[in-house]
Amino acid sequence: MRASLWRRCDFRRLECRRAFTTPRAIRERVNVARLLAQQTDADGVNVHGWVQSLRRQKKVAFAAITDGSTLDTLQAVLKPEDSAQLSTGTAVRLTGSWQASKGTKQSHELQVSHVEALGANDAEHNPLQPKYQTPEFLRTIPHLRPRIPANAILLRLRSQVIASLTRFFSQQDFVQTHTPLITSSDCEGAGEVFTISSNTAKDSVDSQKPEEKASVEHFFRTPKYLTVSAQLHLEALAQAVDRVWTLSPTFRAERSDTPRHLSEFYMLEAELCFTTELDDVMSVVEMMLSVVADDLLGSRTGSELLRAREAHHAEPETATESATATDLKQRWTGLAEGGWPRITYANAIEILQDAVSQSKVEFTYKPSYSAGLQAEHERYIAATIGEGKRPVFVTDYPRVQKAFYMAPTDPSGDESTADKTVACFDLLVPELCELAGGSIREHRSQELLEAMDAKGVAGEHLDWYQDLRKYGSVPHGGFGLGFDRLLCYLSGVTNVRDVVAFPRWYGRCEC
Ligand code: 4AD
Ligand code: MG
Repeated sequence: MRASLWRRCDFRRLECRRAFTTPRAIRERVNVARLLAQQTDADGVNVHGWVQSLRRQKKVAFAAITDGSTLDTLQAVLKPEDSAQLSTGTAVRLTGSWQASKGTKQSHELQVSHVEALGANDAEHNPLQPKYQTPEFLRTIPHLRPRIPANAILLRLRSQVIASLTRFFSQQDFVQTHTPLITSSDCEGAGEVFTISSNTAKDSVDSQKPEEKASVEHFFRTPKYLTVSAQLHLEALAQAVDRVWTLSPTFRAERSDTPRHLSEFYMLEAELCFTTELDDVMSVVEMMLSVVADDLLGSRTGSELLRAREAHHAEPETATESATATDLKQRWTGLAEGGWPRITYANAIEILQDAVSQSKVEFTYKPSYSAGLQAEHERYIAATIGEGKRPVFVTDYPRVQKAFYMAPTDPSGDESTADKTVACFDLLVPELCELAGGSIREHRSQELLEAMDAKGVAGEHLDWYQDLRKYGSVPHGGFGLGFDRLLCYLSGVTNVRDVVAFPRWYGRCEC
């Protein structure tokens, strides 16, 4: 929305903001409705937006206008003949005067004197209809889905959380870095990588003599992959500037068809030098999420998320078992307050086994030290130890369950013991289970080599990683957090496919 005096700089929003006299967004206008009503504006008020709904009566028509800046809509009052060119979804420019409303739902409304439809809108055939449509169906039209107010708010949430994180890391002297998406190694060693190929490589192979083919089969000469984690590159950068972080796309060719797994997702990762203490790494995670939650609690996005949740639970079609507005607020408060439980893996297994033997819970998989934690176990730990309100750190997993780069819990301990543990943690939350994982990294050259050999990941492609242990090696640690899972946790959306605008998962990549 722009007042007429902005006409000359319509598309120079930043300039307009600096010369701020009247608000751009519907959010701001609705917010300061009374103040604006006192302003005289000879040329009238211009509003840009889309028609969210339209109600025509004999003598008057009402259009609810949205511009995606808020859940609130602006009420436009039109002559019925002026509304003829409009339908749900039409992009409009409305000119009129901002007046006190006779209705009870809004303090002010726009009495429209001129209507301009800005583009085509075939409302009848639009797959997105103003009625309940299932999440499964909406995932087939990801290019239209964000227009639903409850989805638009997730875009605003994502943006706000990134802003909070950027501020937090900057204040803590972490340098934001960009790591490559095309990599030579499978960082986690789990073999769930997408391999890069190119049509040009294939074309040139076709035109080559057989003996030359082998050398050009790969665009980069040797196999390259889409990154599964920025960690190894982040470790290199940390050795230059001490503390680094990144929020990067991450790719995994897992065939997991669960509400928590995507093939392409964003991972937030950080590394910090000069520490041997896992507690230091966990404290960064705790402080970081505490800042994010604190910002959310005091924000418009936060209060609109709660309103959207209330509306979600008020409708019989959408009143699922997902978190209510009260649950959400409790989650945010639990995050903001910090002081989350920290228990060891051995301790977690004991808690699970005790719960089974006391018939407090039944699991599909019997908890055992060697078998590892299943999602159902993680959920139980989050619900009981964290009381469903606070995340829980589970630390010191057996080495066999974790990646090669993790340092031992006790570096001076007996290396040959079978159940040796590593200085690592998983952060568990209700519903999503594992939200983040981190560790102290093995910074000793010989020990790292042995760990790589033992896991079968050693090779030339990781020589550069070994170099980091030879030149200026330093005790350090870091973590990776599933950013889309965090947004699920903060918003109460139960499926990670619904917090990502264009989700990709096994067998599905729309648009
Ligand atoms: O536990 P992961 O695999 O840890 C790493 O990749 C480490 N190298 C990170 C580090 O220490 N820098 O992944 C980290 C987090 C998980 O805890 C989970 O929240 C998320 O990334 N994650 C996924 N999120 C969505 N879809 C998937 N397929 C995911 N796989 C992992
Ligand atoms: Mg993990």
